[in-house]
Amino acid sequence: MVKTTLAPFAEYAAELRPLIDSALGARSEPAEGCPDGLREAIRYSLLGPGKRLRPMLVLLSARACGGSVAPAMPAACAVEMVHAYSLVHDDLPAMDDDDLRRGRPTCHKKFGESIAILAGDALLTMAFEVLAKEIEPPQIAAECCAALAGVAGPCGMVGGQADDVAGTDTKADIDTLESIHRRKTGAMIGVSLRLGALIADADGEQLEALDRYGRNIGLAFQITDDLLDVRGNEQTAGKRVGKDAQRGRLTFPGLLGIEQSTERAKDMIRQACDALVPLGAGADGLESLAMYVLERDR
Ligand code: IPE
Ligand code: IPE
Ligand code: MG
Ligand code: MG
Ligand code: MG
Repeated sequence: MVKTTLAPFAEYAAELRPLIDSALGARSEPAEGCPDGLREAIRYSLLGPGKRLRPMLVLLSARACGGSVAPAMPAACAVEMVHAYSLVHDDLPAMDDDDLRRGRPTCHKKFGESIAILAGDALLTMAFEVLAKEIEPPQIAAECCAALAGVAGPCGMVGGQADDVAGTDTKADIDTLESIHRRKTGAMIGVSLRLGALIADADGEQLEALDRYGRNIGLAFQITDDLLDVRGNEQTAGKRVGKDAQRGRLTFPGLLGIEQSTERAKDMIRQACDALVPLGAGADGLESLAMYVLERDR
């Protein structure tokens, strides 16, 4: 299953990350009407040293379906914009009240709460502008907009975040927790793959394989995020740790313990890699990324 010849994820990241960062930079440059302070907050949050995992998923998914990277780049930027907005709002005092993100002060700590809220609003809006204007043909652009809106909205990421915040201090079962994690994190990961596939004109079998892969790495990714909060290192992770328990949040290690949570994540990564088989060697980058999700320390 895990090939010995598989290149480490770092190699894919080294190739794709500079392309992603320059594409994000170009789409967030100063423009008439946008106040300098707001622009600075947008770029601070969008271009900061995150992992760029979701844009890489878009690009690697396009590749796995036989497409190339360039036509998928606007979609890669769009998902990172939505993600960056979700982080800015997630860190606000009314949400997780965090002061450290990507190894630097959170957006509201640096620019104030009003600008942070507005920078999040702006990033969300910019994402749909990029998709609508830049994805070709227009039919695929419309499909991408609908898909991203569906998972980012009230029945996806925003809904998951609402339940996550409301879950504070309540006891719940594993199904509830899974449902929160799938919506708040898994959905954006799944749609990243879907956008890449749509742009590469994927067939039904490819879409199905990517959906199965995405469901598994999406949940595994939030399990490893929960684990990092328990046993991660603040310096390496670039964000505060030990805060989920403090807030009484529902987490996998909180409910199942560290060992069982780790086993669950491992099992999901195995299933994710199995799901890639029909895609052949073109999906090596996605397989490598799945292994990284399990081993990551940030
Ligand atoms: C953090 O996402 C928020 C979650 C959904 C767990 P990432 O761990 O991908 O954050 P960055 O983009 O690398 O900063
Ligand atoms: C955040 O989950 C998920 C989203 C931003 C949608 P967390 O609150 O666990 O993410 P971190 O740990 O702050 O990055
Ligand atoms: Mg949160
Ligand atoms: Mg948080
Ligand atoms: Mg977390």
